[in-house]
Amino acid sequence: MSKMNTDAKMPIVLTLEPGTYFRCTCGKSQNLPFCDGTHPAGDVVPLRFEISEQKKVYLCSCGESGSPPFCDGTCGVDV
Ligand code: FES
Repeated sequence: MSKMNTDAKMPIVLTLEPGTYFRCTCGKSQNLPFCDGTHPAGDVVPLRFEISEQKKVYLCSCGESGSPPFCDGTCGVDV
């Protein structure tokens, strides 16, 4: 996953409803952390993920997670 447009270095915590989501990876979306289609053409693509039931998620914002788009604690945050 590419580096996200944030210096927070901690996950973004959201409660999501069931559905398909696209995590922005270029940082240019006006709807962060989700893709709004603004990304430039090329090799930058959003990360698609599915949520099957309402749940709290921890989206990686540091770009270092081994299981993107979710935070795996590499940032030092206990998730
Ligand atoms: S925010 Fe990237 S691993 Fe936690």
